[in-house]
Amino acid sequence: MDRRGFLRSSCQACAAIALAPALVSMESCASGSKMLAVENGMLTVPMDTMGNGNTAIVSGQGLANKLMIVKRADGTYTALELLCPHKQGPLKEVTGGLECDWHHSRFDLEGKVLGGPAKQDLKTYPVGSDGKNLLVKVV
Ligand code: FES
Repeated sequence: MDRRGFLRSSCQACAAIALAPALVSMESCASGSKMLAVENGMLTVPMDTMGNGNTAIVSGQGLANKLMIVKRADGTYTALELLCPHKQGPLKEVTGGLECDWHHSRFDLEGKVLGGPAKQDLKTYPVGSDGKNLLVKVV
């Protein structure tokens, strides 16, 4: 395989991963996580980040944790902080919600606790839109 073929196939693999329906992330192959701008307390997420899915994971400049943007059935959005309130374990998407890797607390896609040991819901942020971008109020 020549250099051009290698780059083409690598980019196609990255695109396939990035467009996985369950989890669309803003990460790129070459540079790790892509940071989105936060200005005046607002994280700007291009609308096409959602792709055809109902969730997307994004990182924002100055934010300690990644957020999951969730498109609800009624077309509105919410954003969930991906940090378990029990002991700050990492969360992963599972069917119908999120689960903590450490002690397996489960949350729905509104951030509500479905099963402990966590007793608190996930931190959520309101999401608006300017027509081209989702605007997440992070402060
Ligand atoms: S840190 Fe998540 S359940 Fe304990």
